[in-house]
Amino acid sequence: MGHFLIVGILVIAVSVLTYFGLDAVGLMPVQASAQAVSIDWLWNWEIVAISFLFSLIVVPMTYSLIVFRRKKGDTGDGEHIEGNTPLEIAWTVVPLLIVLVFAYMGAYSLGEIRRIDPDALVINVKAQQFVWTFEYPEYGIISKELHLPLNQQVLLKMQSADVIHSFWVPEFRIKQDVVPGRVTEYRITPTLLGDYKVRCAELCGSSHAYMEGPVIVNTQAEYDTWISEQAVIAAEAAKTPEGQGELLTVKNGCIGCHSLDGSKMTGPTWLNLYGSDVKLEDGSTVIADDAFITESILYPQAKEVAGFAPTVMPPYALNETEIANIIAYLKTLK
Ligand code: CUA
Repeated sequence: MGHFLIVGILVIAVSVLTYFGLDAVGLMPVQASAQAVSIDWLWNWEIVAISFLFSLIVVPMTYSLIVFRRKKGDTGDGEHIEGNTPLEIAWTVVPLLIVLVFAYMGAYSLGEIRRIDPDALVINVKAQQFVWTFEYPEYGIISKELHLPLNQQVLLKMQSADVIHSFWVPEFRIKQDVVPGRVTEYRITPTLLGDYKVRCAELCGSSHAYMEGPVIVNTQAEYDTWISEQAVIAAEAAKTPEGQGELLTVKNGCIGCHSLDGSKMTGPTWLNLYGSDVKLEDGSTVIADDAFITESILYPQAKEVAGFAPTVMPPYALNETEIANIIAYLKTLK
């Protein structure tokens, strides 16, 4: 009985040390949403269970290795033990109860994070290789930045233009796939002001690792200011061809692959592109004029630009006016 007492005390001690050790590591980033509370609560109890199970296995095993080690000169067999009904019932019933309790806790937590606020603010999210675009349908705003007001539930209606992506802001905890051909929903109530990042959490192609976008939680006043500023910018831009062209490049996600500052991304930069000499994969050169740009939008694979994977860009079925506006915008990027 002495051995059981010692092992029992050691199991409890090691469980506590393991739990506090894991807790001190800080496995989770800051908690920035109302939905994160019940997830972190569930996670905490899972860490408690994990710490205990870890000790329950490792402590008796290590204790036995040391204390019951074969004595020098002892060549006999160990004692033969067969069957122990109370023990077998215990190790079946106890884990079953633990699993049932965790199933209940998981269901409770799921219910909490799915709680619907009928007044939730709706924002449309478009995912495509390799950029996130956010549309505020009430205000006609399209942006690369997701601004959210503090303490208000937001309903993101998410669509993909190509393959499966996944919307994930670690500080909000929840993650949701964005699947082509359907609208997936994501509800979140931000509770902490700050700048976060949405990361794509589903391997979606060559630049998957760079598919990030800013997520900014504002006070209601800051949010209102941002909305009215963006509405003015959008209204102003809509008045000129180059402004409309710029809006189109945001709306279609072009800037997910083409930089405006000369840096190399998945596609060629647009800085000083218009009128420049473009080297092609076959060694020839073309001038980036209206004809070349139009062709590259409608049939991206017609001419392969040297140094860029030819299959990445999908064709964009834009009309003549839209293409003319985009060309007008490209001319301003000098
Ligand atoms: Cu989009 Cu990975």
